[in-house]
Amino acid sequence: MTALTPTPLPNKERGFQWHQRYQQQANWTRELREYIFNEIGLTEESRALEVGCGTGAILSTIDSPVYGLDIQLASLKEAQIHAPTSPLTCANAFSLPYADASFEIVFCHFLLLWLPNPQDAIKEMLRVTRAGGYIIAFAEPDYTHRVDKPAALAELGAWQRDALKRQGANPAMGADLAELFYGAGIEIVETGAISNAEHEPFNTEEWALEWATLEADLAGNISDERILKMKSLDKLAWENGERILYVPTHYIRGARG
Ligand SMILES: C[S@@+](CC[C@H](N)C(=O)[O-])C[C@H]1O[C@@H](n2cnc3c(N)ncnc32)[C@H](O)[C@@H]1O
Repeated sequence: MTALTPTPLPNKERGFQWHQRYQQQANWTRELREYIFNEIGLTEESRALEVGCGTGAILSTIDSPVYGLDIQLASLKEAQIHAPTSPLTCANAFSLPYADASFEIVFCHFLLLWLPNPQDAIKEMLRVTRAGGYIIAFAEPDYTHRVDKPAALAELGAWQRDALKRQGANPAMGADLAELFYGAGIEIVETGAISNAEHEPFNTEEWALEWATLEADLAGNISDERILKMKSLDKLAWENGERILYVPTHYIRGARG
């Protein structure tokens, strides 16, 4: 594995627990992945690839040795620990180092929102997929339709949208997914949205991890005082059972005809 220059990525402090965060996100889509992998018949013999595999949070949940590719060498070194049987490659999603039609299944998870021109990456995913195979984006959020209740927490959604934009991400990526797949010439089999957290029972560990991400994203742009005030309002609302947090997270399964 050799190092490449990464595309713009979240600007988190050193030591941020990326794998833990990715595992949290992987939990949100666990049922969806089980459903889709079952529908398309993913088996140990399938040649499958995750583009933008990060630290291997998704790869490590799959019994068969799925290929993983990421632009960040440090993430792949961690992925080697979590998914030791997966063949891993350090490369760019815009130029996949595989021959045409190499895989039956090519997927990504929370990748496209970070890419400057996601349709080019989708076209690359299509190129390396065999006829009759599938291209899947499991999770792309649409923060422009985020719902925060009680009303005093609405500002939190705006803070997070702005933070994502500052980091070079497209907070509305989920809403564009079907159009991008269709435009890439992919036959759409199914598409929809799940919610990452809707009326979730308050879980201190999950909440602390969510806030660790938020605080790292907001640092330097929102005053510590305002962040702390919002954090305690949020905690209280969860504890009182009043909190609603809804971020539509879109998925799509396409086929190569
Ligand atoms: C939010 S993380 C998701 C990781 C993993 N898919 C998961 O859900 O746990 C996005 C990943 O995309 C990778 N990435 C960003 N730009 C990329 C590019 N141009 N080519 C390949 N990987 C890229 C990042 O290094 C990061 O590991």
